[in-house]
Amino acid sequence: MNTKSKVAVIGLGNIGTAVATNLAKGNRAVIVADRTIEKASALSQKLGSLARPMEIAAAIKEADIIVFAIWFNAIKELLHQYATELEGKIIVDPSNPIAPDEKGGFKKIIGEKESAGEIISSLLPKKAKFAKAFGTLGVASLANAAFQKPANVLFYATDDSSINADIEQLILNNGFEPVRVGSIDQSIRIEVFGDLHEFGALGKTITKNEVAQLIEPSLV
Ligand SMILES: NC(=O)c1ccc[n+]([C@@H]2O[C@H](COP(=O)([O-])OP(=O)(O)OC[C@H]3O[C@@H](n4cnc5c(N)ncnc54)[C@H](OP(=O)(O)O)[C@@H]3O)[C@@H](O)[C@H]2O)c1
Repeated sequence: MNTKSKVAVIGLGNIGTAVATNLAKGNRAVIVADRTIEKASALSQKLGSLARPMEIAAAIKEADIIVFAIWFNAIKELLHQYATELEGKIIVDPSNPIAPDEKGGFKKIIGEKESAGEIISSLLPKKAKFAKAFGTLGVASLANAAFQKPANVLFYATDDSSINADIEQLILNNGFEPVRVGSIDQSIRIEVFGDLHEFGALGKTITKNEVAQLIEPSLV
């Protein structure tokens, strides 16, 4: 497992704050960045010496792993804007491609059978490596179900098994048990409405011994 890779969380709303807070609790250093340095500085002061505030461009340049805790369309924009700086980096996408509907709920903003993970993986900068992770739980569970015994599961997907150790260490440092669901073509299962999502058919957090009946072992 690789704890030396430098991690940056870009976007410090619900999910970015929860991920950065968990990392600090898990004793992992984290670079935090948002649209303003003031927002990043305020969070890093709360989290203590393991958190470092930076401008987005500097954070992307410095980090090996970048968690884009921003909305789906904003991730697409930043991938384009920082294409050169992101070359060769590990990009982590927690996004759920949804927007409010007319009935006070949420609807998908991409095709029914499409996933944000597959779309974003088709837009990656050169030699960037990509994982879908941290989007499977709502923010309340991401914050409150971390660091439990036994640990709750966070699913991830990637096409590139060379980054499994990095992603798994990041999930462990967030206080969860990592479980790979397979390649990026499985992303839809761990996005909102998916069968492994807290706001989909699964509907709850689970521990590792409950996973066996949910995932085809050959996919993992
Ligand atoms: N909320 C959940 O329960 C949940 C669960 C799973 C996955 N997700 C996914 O996680 C992602 C973030 O959701 P969230 O609930 O954390 O959203 P959020 O609370 O609205 O936070 C988004 C943050 O990103 C910042 N931001 C927006 N555009 C940016 C840009 N271009 N560059 C840098 N920062 C930018 C926002 O800054 P400003 O305040 O300045 O706009 C805000 O701090 C989304 O893709 C969502 O689908 C959310």
